[in-house]
Amino acid sequence: MNIAVTGGAGFIGSNFVYYELKNHPEDRIICFDALTYAGNLETLNSAMENPSFKFIRGDITNRKQVETFFENEKPDILVNFAAESHVDRSIENPQLFLETNVLGTSVLLDACRKYSVDRYHQVSTDEVYGDLPLDRPDMMFTEESNLHTSSPYSASKASADLLVQAYERTYKVPATISRCSNNYGPFHFPEKLIPLMIINALNNRKLPVYGDGLNVRDWLYVEDHCKAIDLIIREGHVGEVYNIGGHNEHSNMDVVKMILHELNKPESLIEHVADRKGHDRRYAIDPTKIQTELGWQPETKFEDGIKKTIKWYLDNRSWWEHIMNGEYQHYYERMYGSRKKYVYSSL
Ligand code: NAD
Ligand code: TYD
Repeated sequence: MNIAVTGGAGFIGSNFVYYELKNHPEDRIICFDALTYAGNLETLNSAMENPSFKFIRGDITNRKQVETFFENEKPDILVNFAAESHVDRSIENPQLFLETNVLGTSVLLDACRKYSVDRYHQVSTDEVYGDLPLDRPDMMFTEESNLHTSSPYSASKASADLLVQAYERTYKVPATISRCSNNYGPFHFPEKLIPLMIINALNNRKLPVYGDGLNVRDWLYVEDHCKAIDLIIREGHVGEVYNIGGHNEHSNMDVVKMILHELNKPESLIEHVADRKGHDRRYAIDPTKIQTELGWQPETKFEDGIKKTIKWYLDNRSWWEHIMNGEYQHYYERMYGSRKKYVYSSL
């Protein structure tokens, strides 16, 4: 089988490439990625040595490039990870998120229609459901929860989901959608909470916690996510949405403190900074459907996954140091340089 992985040079896409090469050596994996700031060919170094893997640089918003890709590579399955994925950047520049996440998805769907595929899988997010209150731990997102977005990022992802469902119903594109909670693990770009905090702590830099730091995320080890997507594309039912989450809810402050503790660094490195605009309070996934229908279970407890992740960043310094030496420095200065600092005396 030919499996196209769009966005395969990013965090989750690259982990998925490695998962497929390891678990399905009979399949061919073709990565199609524009190599934006978040895409990194170094991440795919080992995959490049595998004859079952091929990398093609291309932009999902470019119809001609996408059609040429379909004509040459003849994918049976396409898994779309390609996206602008960072909420803070979406607040800075919403337009780019609409172009990549909505228009890009529509170009891929048109190609799937034109060349026909056995499956189009859209990697979506729990952020399409909006947020949950902190004082209602009984509430979780199910596949029936309303779409109720907060950020330009989540609005663009929800729009893409609606488009996928429209193409499935109208043109019978055999599509599935998965909505997962926050991932963490190897190759996570250092703009996101966990890698940013690990790297700052290692460099004895301040750890910028937005607002009171009590926001809760449901953390999913990336390999567990890859396993779920693999099950969905092979055994999932066309037209269905599957929520993927790990029952691993932690507040940002807890996560940051765990990282500091693991690295033997002082909590005085924590610095409360101005909150994110429209900041979602809590995400929590109910994964009953994928568990009962496909037998998926998250295998990695957060306490173990965070240790593995920290070890990976310690063992792979050159991977993130190359990123830190590039354009990322300007981003950091722009995002955090003038952000107001706060003292939360009750914490
Ligand atoms: P990422 O930002 O690390 O990687 C995105 C990849 O897409 C990069 O390799 C980038 O070069 C590529 N890309 C961007 N624009 C492109 C374009 N126009 N054409 C081709 N390639 C393009 O993202 P990630 O964290 O790996 O997320 C992957 C997917 O999973 C996204 O769709 C995201 O919305 C979704 N998701 C992520 C998380 C998370 O915790 N990271 C959680 C839920 C859902
Ligand atoms: P992030 O990793 O950006 O993922 P998402 O916004 O998609 O959940 O952020 C996770 C949480 O961490 C979120 O509540 C925002 C918070 N956060 C900080 O407190 N400081 C930071 O520097 C970053 C990047 C995030």
